[in-house]
Amino acid sequence: MKVVIKTKAILWVAFFTVLSSPLLVGAAPPDAAAGKVKAQTCFVCHGENGISISSDIPNLAAQPPLSITYQLIQFRGQQRKGGAMEALAVPLSDQDMRDIAAYYAALSPPPAKSGNVDKIAKGQQISSAQYCNSCHSPQLQGQKHIARLAGQSPEYLITQLKNIRSGARVDMDGTMGSAARGLSDDDIESLAAYAASLN
Ligand code: HEC
Ligand code: HEC
Repeated sequence: MKVVIKTKAILWVAFFTVLSSPLLVGAAPPDAAAGKVKAQTCFVCHGENGISISSDIPNLAAQPPLSITYQLIQFRGQQRKGGAMEALAVPLSDQDMRDIAAYYAALSPPPAKSGNVDKIAKGQQISSAQYCNSCHSPQLQGQKHIARLAGQSPEYLITQLKNIRSGARVDMDGTMGSAARGLSDDDIESLAAYAASLN
């Protein structure tokens, strides 16, 4: 079991190395200006500034580009479904995804949200006890293929954490699944309030 997970993890590392090295695969470097043109259809939900129009739609502003690209690949491959994204991603080429990701990644991050102070404090405690920040970065701003949580809609975060916990959303290498497995509904609400309160 352990060996299988390790092999999977190594394969993913190899995959991301190829994905993040356009020269290796002969692709053009990501072009944020081209990405803005290609993202016109996305603006109606995710906003031109990367701030989404409703709380069940994620903000994409300042998301690590590899995280956006990877999620789009997941939607296109029908491994992840939700919000019609599994249909919207189908026409996108790998280059479209890299360009769109470069556009959204370069935008200013979403503003910090106020929330219940006790929940936020509890969320901060759980986040450090469960090492959420060791992967999502100290201020939960995301890195490499790991999503930014800071300033994200708390409703969206709660839905995703519950889906990852139940396995309804399958994550790439099982690491996020194990991180979510032990969380109670109350933990999830506190973590979401804490992440949303960051910028
Ligand atoms: C009709 C509204 C709508 C449109 C149009 C739309 N999206 Fe989405 N998008 C969503 C919703 C809702 C989700 C959350 C899906 C879920 O629940 O898993 C989402 C999720 C995503 C995610 C995952 C973000 C994360 O943090 O995991 C990415 C990336 C994304 N969309 C990119 C795009 C791009 C690029 C386009 C344009 C080609 C686009 N979306 C068009 C509604 C939309
Ligand atoms: C071992 C590294 C690791 C740890 C620890 C970790 N995460 Fe994650 N997290 C990931 C990865 C990788 C993804 C992307 C999963 C995927 O879609 O394959 C992710 C995705 C997420 C998402 C979905 C974000 C989105 O935009 O859709 C949320 C929410 C999240 N993590 C919250 C947490 C919380 C809260 C903790 C602590 C309890 C945590 N994570 C701990 C690696 C980690």
